[in-house]
Amino acid sequence: MATTRTCVLLFVLSATLAEEDVKLKYKAPTKPVRLFTEEELRRYDGSQEGQPIYMAVKGVVFDVTKGKEFYGKDAPYNALVGKDSTRAVAKMSLDPADLTSDTTGLTEEQLKSLDSVFEGTYKSKYPIVGYTASRILNEDGSPNKDFRPEDQPHFRIKDEF
Ligand code: HEM
Repeated sequence: MATTRTCVLLFVLSATLAEEDVKLKYKAPTKPVRLFTEEELRRYDGSQEGQPIYMAVKGVVFDVTKGKEFYGKDAPYNALVGKDSTRAVAKMSLDPADLTSDTTGLTEEQLKSLDSVFEGTYKSKYPIVGYTASRILNEDGSPNKDFRPEDQPHFRIKDEF
């Protein structure tokens, strides 16, 4: 009886250790990230019914389809989608000149407002589908070694492929 109990104990112990071993050796693979060129991002501008709607802020491409009442065809913020609208979001402006990723000359206040909308609205409400080429690559087309995907734990990166 005692021998049986010892055997069971040993079995449980070795199984636990083996599991620990597997956990230690297993390393989650890094998810590939999708790169969007300007041209590609333009395809998701909400003009076609039933197609996903994408918009980038700070080089992060969000799927804003569930905010169709804001971003869909003829909706008030439709001008922001299908492109990187960082400047427009920072300035809360729909002026065509602000529909760009260029942040040159923005005030401290506008940059703070940008970060708060980026975190509080976009990152918390919409799934990330990828990143713009200008965020992932350097100007000469080489990979930007400082690129890090955004941390958005409550969403899984959506992969269309
Ligand atoms: C008369 C001017 C405006 C009014 C009355 C207005 C009103 C609103 C309202 C009621 C919301 C919804 C807030 C919620 O989720 O409960 C909203 C969201 C928003 N507004 Fe405006 N807005 C105005 C101008 C603008 C302009 C010029 C921009 C330019 C970028 C802008 C960008 C946004 C964005 C990005 C959101 C978040 C949409 C989302 O949740 O995806 N708004 N606005």
